[in-house]
Amino acid sequence: MKPAQDAIGAYPDFAYPEHWTRRSLLDLENLSAEEINTILDVAASLKRATDGCRTKLSLLSECTVANLFFENSTRTRTSFSLAARRLGAGTIEFSAAGSSLSKGESFIDTAKTIEAMNVDAIIVRHSTPGTPHLLDQELQCAVINAGDGPHEHPTQGLLDILTIREHRGDIAGLTVALVGDIAHSRTARSNIWGLLKLGAHVIVCGPSTLVSRRWEELGVEVVYRLDDILDRCDVLNLLRIQFERQATRPFPSVHEYALLYAMNRERMRRAKDDILIMAPGPINRGVEITPEVADGAHSVILEQVTNGLAVRMAVLRLLCHAQRDQRKEHQ
Ligand code: CP
Repeated sequence: MKPAQDAIGAYPDFAYPEHWTRRSLLDLENLSAEEINTILDVAASLKRATDGCRTKLSLLSECTVANLFFENSTRTRTSFSLAARRLGAGTIEFSAAGSSLSKGESFIDTAKTIEAMNVDAIIVRHSTPGTPHLLDQELQCAVINAGDGPHEHPTQGLLDILTIREHRGDIAGLTVALVGDIAHSRTARSNIWGLLKLGAHVIVCGPSTLVSRRWEELGVEVVYRLDDILDRCDVLNLLRIQFERQATRPFPSVHEYALLYAMNRERMRRAKDDILIMAPGPINRGVEITPEVADGAHSVILEQVTNGLAVRMAVLRLLCHAQRDQRKEHQ
């Protein structure tokens, strides 16, 4: 039976976590394990309350959120927008193309202008690392990092961890490998911080031009041959090669990369029987993953997309609610 739509906190399995105090979500590096688990628990609860992210609630009917994307996106932009609407919030879709940025208005002035339309949260994606952190200093509303260059993509890390948790339960003790372009991957960084805090063993694997030994300083294992780790991984998260962030090619050819690192039918035979195959997307079929693996029984790639909705509903719910509370205090 679907829960009745009612005021905040009225759902039988959803009580607002009163210990949540953050105004913004900028990264997973600075979140505690308790905060990460709170977001995951709220996401799971909202997923149940919306019949698997299908139905609407009215938890944020007084709120407005704005998407400010300065880099391309399919999954993140669409799902933040849909998550806001699933919770009853209004949305503003800002695009740099066609905006007054072309008339010389600065990035900060643009964000302040959007904020002045009484928005509760600004969701920002930008190619420059630290852009959301800068906005957080300049604005009063909640700021959500939807990907800042190669730095972090916190909601991607959270949705990946939620997907693993749904299949495996406890994260602690699992071995999770991130494979591919670690050097340029914000998904890798957010996964590493989140998974380590929850007690997973994390491996980063790829060509030495894309995986530095310095990653060991974070507490992860560095491996250069995928074939060496296949039989001990519970989860493989296959990352796209981000050619758009590279001045020179990190390996001689895509064909050679695929020979060494693509997850394919033959490698699946040597993996654990219950291995989870994940990818943040977009995927490049035939490069980091072959079609039969991407569409195979072990792949949870499309479940990750659905869980993106759940996690983004949870983040909006937590931050917009805190935002409303703060405003009431100052009135
Ligand atoms: N995974 C991810 O961030 O996808 P988009 O670039 O399509 O948003």
